Amino acid sequence: MGESRRLLSFSAGPALWPDTVLESVSEGLLPSAGGGLSVLEWSHRGEAYGRLHQRALERLRRLLGVEPSHEVLLLPGGATQQFAMVPANLRPPGGSADYLVTGHWARRASEYAARTGAINVVASSEDEGFSRIPPPERWRLDPRAAYFHLTTNNTIAGTQLHRLPRREAVPLVADVSSDVLLRDLPVANFDLLYAGAQKNLGPAGLAVVVIRRSLIEALAHGPEGVLGYRDHARSGSRLNTPPTALVFLLERMLAWIEAEGGREEMVRRARARAALVYDALDRHPDVYRLSVRREDRSVANVVFGLHSAEEERAFLAAAAAEGMVGLAGHRSVGGLRASLYAAMPVAGARRLAALIDAFAHRHRGAKNVSAPAPGGEGA
Ligand SMILES: Cc1ncc(COP(=O)(O)O)c(C=O)c1O
Repeated sequence: MGESRRLLSFSAGPALWPDTVLESVSEGLLPSAGGGLSVLEWSHRGEAYGRLHQRALERLRRLLGVEPSHEVLLLPGGATQQFAMVPANLRPPGGSADYLVTGHWARRASEYAARTGAINVVASSEDEGFSRIPPPERWRLDPRAAYFHLTTNNTIAGTQLHRLPRREAVPLVADVSSDVLLRDLPVANFDLLYAGAQKNLGPAGLAVVVIRRSLIEALAHGPEGVLGYRDHARSGSRLNTPPTALVFLLERMLAWIEAEGGREEMVRRARARAALVYDALDRHPDVYRLSVRREDRSVANVVFGLHSAEEERAFLAAAAAEGMVGLAGHRSVGGLRASLYAAMPVAGARRLAALIDAFAHRHRGAKNVSAPAPGGEGA
């Protein structure tokens, strides 16, 4: 790697990678590490790739606590592809599916399902700008639904479903892209879980799917081949050429997570990071705006703002001057957002908290003497 300054990324994904993983990836790509061939050149049907593929699956099983009742799949296409695969596989012709609409991605998932069949919106907080999770007393579940889909963490709104529903008669499906490994997820409670890997697990363009084996057996009406869970499961996620390079990257990231202490340690760090950043913001209510209801705050994505776009630009400039990037809110909502995924060191959150404090003090000082905002003219 060159001499350029290492930046600390708070991006919502693709997210920060630990330097040690980047080094292990660089070395691992070389032919000398791969028996004379780069891992990129390995045959996807060969033994060496088979071992790597298996290792990635086993690490996921251990990290997520997946019981033999469930299958783990590695599928190309990211989380959005799952928006389409879930209804295609799980909803029979003429059937309907339940969707809890708690944010942009939850709505997108419901829109995908609505293109090809009936859905029931269980509850939505869109009218409140997705600033809260609709209370369970307001959910209108359909007891005949083919499945109930929810999003455990809303990456753009910065809310998290802290109280997960218990699985009852209807299969429970969840998009866990942004908080997988950042919370204790009762995997056995779900019939299908999926996560785009680019936030907490590594590379973009790959989805991890955990699906109940008895559900796969029951997918008589679902599509065959690459669009069907059944055939992917039967082939051990090697139905066609799998994204071998992405699986290699995933395996390296998972190895790091296990070496760092696994899920328990990831959950501990997630809480520590979120506490640092929220506490700093809460110390300065005159400077920072937090519109998310306190009980629904996300440990993965801290969404906040200042009192004008100019002040927000000044904050971004002050962060960039200290090597912290990726803090602008999603383009659909603006404001600011700090994404605190698995690879973010607690020390990184501490650096951001220090900036939040320092910026607030400078901001107040500047206001008192009516000097320009820190960072110059506010871009
Ligand atoms: C919760 C959630 N679901 C789905 C997606 C879409 O993921 P992908 O771009 O991998 O399709 C995102 C992207 O940020 C997300 O945050």
